[in-house]
Amino acid sequence: MKLDIGVGTLAAADTPLLVLPWCQDSERQAERPTANMDPLDESLDLTLTQAVTSGDFRARRGQTLLLYRRGDRGPDRVLLIGVGERGDLNAERLREVGGAAAGRALELGITELTLSVSPSWLGGAVETEEAARALVEGVVLGHWRFEELRSEPGDEPRRRPLHSVTVRVPTAKSRDPAVRGAEYGQVVAEAQNYARELAIRPANIVNPRYLAGEARKLGEELGIEVKVLDREQIQEDGMGALLAVAAGSEEEPRFIVLEYCPEKGSRPLVLLGKGVTFDAGGLSIKTASGMETMKYDMSGAAAVLGAMRAIARLKLGANVIGLIPAVENLPSGHALRPGDVISSRSRKTIEVLNTDAEGRLILADALNYAARYEPDAMIDIATLTGACVVALGHHAIGLMGNDQPLIDEVLAAGGRSGERVWHLPLWEEYRKQLESEVADIKNTGGRAAGTITAGLFLREFVGSAPWAHLDIAGTAWAEKAGPYQPTGPTGVGVRLFTEWVRSRESD
Ligand code: BES
Ligand code: MN
Ligand code: ZN
Repeated sequence: MKLDIGVGTLAAADTPLLVLPWCQDSERQAERPTANMDPLDESLDLTLTQAVTSGDFRARRGQTLLLYRRGDRGPDRVLLIGVGERGDLNAERLREVGGAAAGRALELGITELTLSVSPSWLGGAVETEEAARALVEGVVLGHWRFEELRSEPGDEPRRRPLHSVTVRVPTAKSRDPAVRGAEYGQVVAEAQNYARELAIRPANIVNPRYLAGEARKLGEELGIEVKVLDREQIQEDGMGALLAVAAGSEEEPRFIVLEYCPEKGSRPLVLLGKGVTFDAGGLSIKTASGMETMKYDMSGAAAVLGAMRAIARLKLGANVIGLIPAVENLPSGHALRPGDVISSRSRKTIEVLNTDAEGRLILADALNYAARYEPDAMIDIATLTGACVVALGHHAIGLMGNDQPLIDEVLAAGGRSGERVWHLPLWEEYRKQLESEVADIKNTGGRAAGTITAGLFLREFVGSAPWAHLDIAGTAWAEKAGPYQPTGPTGVGVRLFTEWVRSRESD
């Protein structure tokens, strides 16, 4: 996709589709076109005033109105997109506007559009850079569709990729921030779409070997170091918990390491992603209904791969290591049994009461492996517990950790990226639920506070580094479409991680 920055009036914008975000005034009516707005073509100005004064277009959040050019200059079409009340204007609302614009462009079969970013219209509620970023993110994310497994294209004209997106600012002064924001937005949203793509491909395509292959490809593309441990090397390294989960599947596990280290001599940040390419539950098998969604159980891995891609493309100034334990969790005659006691990389023994609590097992070994880097901080991301869906539903990522400053950083990065997180406590009292009769720890803590006891389990394998854990069980895929989110995988975590790493740049 081509990205441009245009400078000049809206009336002179030469584009098939000009997108104008639009706010409501304090009476919840659409603002008049003259308020805070750059001049439009006279005929368009008239039509617009009519649409607004008639009350037909009230600029409610998500409401759209499409107008056509009458004169012979300027944009062919103008798309007004409601933001809601001016007081609610923020980056997330603009991301939604971008998503709505992409949806309309798909319907119309238009592959080129222009987004208006005007500092006077923004009125200081959102900076130019952030506005350009959010709008572009919304467009790129909202335009994403997955078609590669259909033998014939559908009949809608929407299969055409977005060809060109232009951000239009009124004066040259706004150019540089618009460029920075738009470029960042494009890179991070494309990386998020990449994560969505990995997640949506079914488990007969995406297995641990496939993820390793993708990581290697990424390494070549980005010029970053990628190492892959195969089954034997995993065994030599002592990752007994990862091996135990892998035992039931014909597919061999992989342990994937990505190293982006531009800052020689400084300690890295480590991102770890759960890569269960299919989670049938193992011998503690899941029920049939909804089991197909467990192809998404590698969404944490997809988020790490997507984030590494964005971070390297943006050349962020921080060392970042990506770690992915990749495995398939199936029942078989070789499978791990409930009641088995296994030995982890840390040498702690684990009583496996439920083979469906496999994510924490593979992450335990990965977290223990991470200690070799003496990280400045580490964050894992995982579709870890159904309990997280019960607690937070589909609108918040569950956040836990051992370090309040890091928790605060992640909360802040979540707010800025629009991938919101909610902090849950890892109080000592809950830890009793993990005491085992026969081993150092057991892998399930019962029904109460299932998200927290999973977090506490992970904490046992962390060592001394500041660590945070993200449970994305409720946010990794969407059953309902959102403004910039079709149904299916969300690629959640990519924007959050990228934003967090940016906040840790050493410059
Ligand atoms: N991958 C699942 C968690 C999950 C469930 C993610 C629903 C997304 C949607 C995980 O491996 C799992 O099965 N967890 C169990 C743990 C339990 C056995 C302690 C769960 O949540 O039921
Ligand atoms: Mn499971
Ligand atoms: Zn799982």
